[in-house]
Amino acid sequence: MKKYFLAASLCSLALVLTYCCAPKNIASNTTPAKTNFKTDMAAVVMAHCSPCHIPANGGKKKAYDVYANLKSDIDDIIHRIELTPGTKGFMPFKKTEKLPDSVIDLFKKWKSDGLLED
Ligand code: HEC
Repeated sequence: MKKYFLAASLCSLALVLTYCCAPKNIASNTTPAKTNFKTDMAAVVMAHCSPCHIPANGGKKKAYDVYANLKSDIDDIIHRIELTPGTKGFMPFKKTEKLPDSVIDLFKKWKSDGLLED
């Protein structure tokens, strides 16, 4: 009787542990956040397109810290940052290296997410 009881307890313990440690439904809490202008793109532009496209920093080129401008030019922007450095039109202007892939992907993701402002 004692043995039986012990075995039963162990079994329930195993059950409880299995249940508790089973991976949670990952899909439900990892819906990736959508890229938006205020949280993501403004900082990227500030880091990579300044000073030329940031009037507050003395830039004389089109202001890309302005949502409407970044949005309306997104196709040209993606085209230019994917050009080979040295090619006419390549951005960031005069740089000898492309932006990191992660940054280029962020511009693309912003577009595919719907060019959200916030
Ligand atoms: C060192 C200065 C400099 C930096 C940094 C720079 N640009 Fe430019 N950008 C220019 C100049 C100069 C022009 C105008 C010449 C041309 O069109 O190629 C220009 C033009 C452009 C245009 C065409 C705009 C128009 O008026 O039609 C786009 C799009 C653009 N840049 C995107 C970017 C993006 C995106 C970044 C950051 C990832 C960036 N640039 C970084 C200097 C810069």
